[in-house]
Formats: sequence, structure tokens, C-alpha cells
Amino acid sequence: MNQIPISKPYLTGDEGAAVAAVVASGWVSQGPRVREFEAAFAERVGAADAVATTSCTTALQLALYVLGVGPGDEVIVPSLSFIATANAVWQCGATPVFADIDPRTYNLDPAAAERAITPRTKAIMPVHQVGLPADMDAFLELGRRHGVEIVEDAACAIGATYRGRPIGSLGPLACFSLHPRKVITTGEGGMIAVQDPKLAARLRFLRQHAMDVSDLARHSADDVVIERYPERAWNFRMTDMQAALGLCQLEVLDDILARRRRLAERYTAALDRLPTLHAPYDPPESERTWQSYCVRVDPASPVERTELMRELLGDGIATRRGVMAIHQEDSYVAQRPYSLPHTDAAAADVLMLPLYAGLTDAEQDFVIERLVAHATPLAAAA
Ligand SMILES: Cc1ncc(COP(=O)(O)O)c(C=O)c1O
Repeated sequence: MNQIPISKPYLTGDEGAAVAAVVASGWVSQGPRVREFEAAFAERVGAADAVATTSCTTALQLALYVLGVGPGDEVIVPSLSFIATANAVWQCGATPVFADIDPRTYNLDPAAAERAITPRTKAIMPVHQVGLPADMDAFLELGRRHGVEIVEDAACAIGATYRGRPIGSLGPLACFSLHPRKVITTGEGGMIAVQDPKLAARLRFLRQHAMDVSDLARHSADDVVIERYPERAWNFRMTDMQAALGLCQLEVLDDILARRRRLAERYTAALDRLPTLHAPYDPPESERTWQSYCVRVDPASPVERTELMRELLGDGIATRRGVMAIHQEDSYVAQRPYSLPHTDAAAADVLMLPLYAGLTDAEQDFVIERLVAHATPLAAAA
């Protein structure tokens, strides 16, 4: 059993009463609390509206679908991402096309994305990887110039800002995750920040089997309502219990972000003293969420990445490999040969250290002490 996990949701103890109140109300599926959570979320990220779903994966699928992405289309994505990024494209019947990253930010490189554009490209999906904003000015400009849609995978990016503007306020559709490994959680859940009211209405329609009347409208109608289903769609509804939890989490979001930033800065200060481990890039123009803290192990390190993870696990410290490379997985490897050298290197050399709002200084000091012990050439040789 690890003494220090990789991640832990930050729950204050107020959530139980909020969820219990929903249960007591009798309306437990998508209803008034979901609507309230959507409004609060939209306001927080500077979007015109927000639409709740069951996960970020289904949010991405729905966002691509409303833009008309379907069979025969290509969507350019980074390979260096969680596999959900590519699976959402596949769930639309389209083909994910992988492009390389900027090795400094680990985010999709706009120039590499542009080189991957073909007549079949329908959309580009930049990922704000581990909460570091992608270069949205460049991607939005690329979209305008080539006539392709931009959908943001903002799974880890609630609270992040790009050149002073919040992620969620920049592009037409940005999809967030509310999984417990993310900055705030509803257990499972997703949210689509959307600017166009027509798209928002269509997203709400499609997440509920394309039913032409909402449950709330039927419930409050004083005449019989016979609903219709003019097209095929899905059930991607969030529950009101999840929404109640999400509303509590929004209240502590700023606190969570400040705690994460402070802990990240403590890691970075410690890594500055170690020549063989490299701290993650913290761009001056953007505010990242520090959803994960990724450390790059230098080729000159006395201990390689996976061995270092094993040593730390032996000390009771959980780590994770850095972000995966989707094109290396059996499920995507046969698609076509890819040359993605920056992606391959980042997938091989990076590990994630424990980072969550409730991590104490004493726990973090222990992580740092063990890291220094394993990664210092003299200590390793002794
Ligand atoms: C970049 C990225 N996209 C999408 C997802 C999928 O999120 P969810 O679990 O809410 O479907 C994740 C989750 O890890 C992620 O990191």
C-alpha cells in the first residue's frame, strides 16, 4: 500500500449534505441541479453556456458530432495524450491523425498539425495537456485559414488561462473532465463550454436521445406531452447528485489551484538542484492548473525513468509514467506508420510525481528527499 498516492480529490466534507439534499428532493437524474451547475461552470470559464455530459470522452464525441465530424473525416490530435482523445474521434466514426508535440510544452505543435492537414481533415483537437494551455491563437488562426473546426480537449484545464483569458472562453467548444484524477470532480462527468446558443441547444438535444422535449419541460407541463425523436442520439446525462458535488467543487476551485501551484513551485525549486531531472515548463503568458507534475529524466541520469518509479514505489511513493503515446498502443499502431520523435521521447523519459491539493509539506518533503537520494549520481553510486 502506497503511503503517498499519485492523486486524491480535494473534498471539504460539505459535499455529503449537498448530495443528500438532492436525494431527499426525489429528482436524482439530470434536472435542476445540472442546470445550475452548467450555469456556474459557464460563468467560471467565461463561456456563453456549458452543457454537462457523462464524461470528457462523451463530451468530445458530442462536440465533434455537432460539428459534423463523421465517417471518412480525419481529426488531427496529439498522440501524446490519454487514449480518450483518439477514442472520441473513433466514436464519431472518423479517423484520428496523430501529429507531434512541442517538446517544451508537451502540447500539440501547431506547425506539425498544419503539416498533417489533408482534404479530409474536418477538425483539429488541441489538448491542454495536464492543464497547460495549448497555443490557442495559433490553432484558431489555423482553423480559419484552412476551414477546419477546432475542438479543445480541456480535460485537465479548468481554471487555466491563456494570455489572460480562461480556457473555455477561447474556442467554440472546449471539453472538460470531472473524473477524480482531474482538478475538480463529480465522480465521473464532463462539461462542454460552448459559445453559440444554437450549438448549446443541439448538444442538449443530442445528449438526451434527441428527444424534442426535456424532462423538466414535460414535468412542468399542464397538458399531455407526446415527445418525438427526429434523429438518433445518445444518453450522456449527468445526474443531479453529481451536479450538487460539482457545485461544491467549484466553490473550492481557486483554493485547489493555489495549493497545486504552491506545491508545484516547491517541486521545481527542489529540482533546480538536480542536474539529471528537469522540471516542467511554466510559461509566463499562461496559467497552468498543475493537474499533474511531469518530470523529465535526463539521459545522463544514473537511474532511468521506470527504475526511478520502481525505487520510489519501494519507498511508498506512487508515481505514474508521463502522458502516454497513443500511436504506440496495439489499438492504434496498425493505423499507419508515424514518425513522432518528440512524442516518443516524452513517452519514454517522463514521470509524474504525487501532486494534489491535500498533499502536506511533510509528505512532499519526503518525496523530494527520496527523489534526491535516487537521482543524485553520487548517492546512486554509493
Ligand atoms: C487529455 C484527456 N482527454 C480526455 C480524457 C477523458 O476524460 P474522462 O475520463 O472524463 O472521459 C482524459 C482523462 O484522463 C484526459 O486526460
